[in-house]
Amino acid sequence: MNKIQPGILASVPSVARHLSFVLEPDAGPGPALERLAKSVDPGRTVVGIGRSTALALGRHVAGLRDFPSGAGRGFEIPATPGALWCWLRGDDRGELIHRTRSIEALLGPAFRLDAVVDAFMHQEGRDLTGYEDGTENPTGGNAIAAASLGGAGPGLDGSSFAAVQQWVHDLEAFDALGPEEQDLSVGRRRSDNAEIDEAPASAHVKRTAQESFSPEAFVLRRSMPWAEGTRAGLVFLAFGRSFDAFEAQLGRMTGLDDGITDSLFRFTRPVTGAYYWCPPVSGGRLDLRALGLR
Ligand code: HEM
Repeated sequence: MNKIQPGILASVPSVARHLSFVLEPDAGPGPALERLAKSVDPGRTVVGIGRSTALALGRHVAGLRDFPSGAGRGFEIPATPGALWCWLRGDDRGELIHRTRSIEALLGPAFRLDAVVDAFMHQEGRDLTGYEDGTENPTGGNAIAAASLGGAGPGLDGSSFAAVQQWVHDLEAFDALGPEEQDLSVGRRRSDNAEIDEAPASAHVKRTAQESFSPEAFVLRRSMPWAEGTRAGLVFLAFGRSFDAFEAQLGRMTGLDDGITDSLFRFTRPVTGAYYWCPPVSGGRLDLRALGLR
């Protein structure tokens, strides 16, 4: 029986919200998390626990570690950890606002809402640059295997490890590249999504080709565009059975192994980066046994 939060496996919704919370000083997060587990539907609200919350509960969740900040040639990879993350999925922005308010009420006073990012589907699932996103995602049993832990025992089987990064696009810089350079930067044609075999090693899909890593580095991506005023970009979201595959991909994009930087950095930069452990579900609700909670 598959125990992963069902909202992780479901396809990208039409609207979503990312909420990140901090823990108030001396707050015991246990009762707030138990209230959350009793109330949320994990098909509509995906919940991730930050390392600081596990530590506040005196627990260590195997595999939950700090997001690796770093730098590449002329850009930063920031780490902006949070105590708790909720990914609200839906089809009505107003409903997400009201759901946010009820989650805030459930989690207070221990957790304080620190940041909200509204995300949305563009066309049939494209980045704001117009490229289809998610094509090479694993599906069916392969998606479950890529995105969730198995064989780790009750309370851990079905866990997923979420990497969340908000990227800000410079759409003027992107436009200035022109259609051919744009396709070569991504490594796919925007017109028909075909992969460009002769794209340079800096092309995004050449950097991140999941089968090209050893071991293979498969993740389940659920990224969506975001926009606020005149700023816009992508909330990158990947679920793994550990953080290893994401870290291998990010390392390649940054140029850590061979000095080649992903061409995406010509027009987009990450401004946040956080890791969360997404507990499994049992009987349709979050299973917080690994945190010593009910
Ligand atoms: C603004 C940032 C990003 C944009 C606009 C973007 C866009 C895309 C697009 C258009 C594709 C091709 C279609 C597809 O297979 O989904 C793709 C593939 C992919 N991206 Fe990204 N991406 C971004 C960031 C990242 C990051 C940070 C990672 C991981 C560290 C990543 C990992 C991947 C992977 C694994 C693939 C599939 C590669 C394959 O196996 O062919 N992407 N991305």
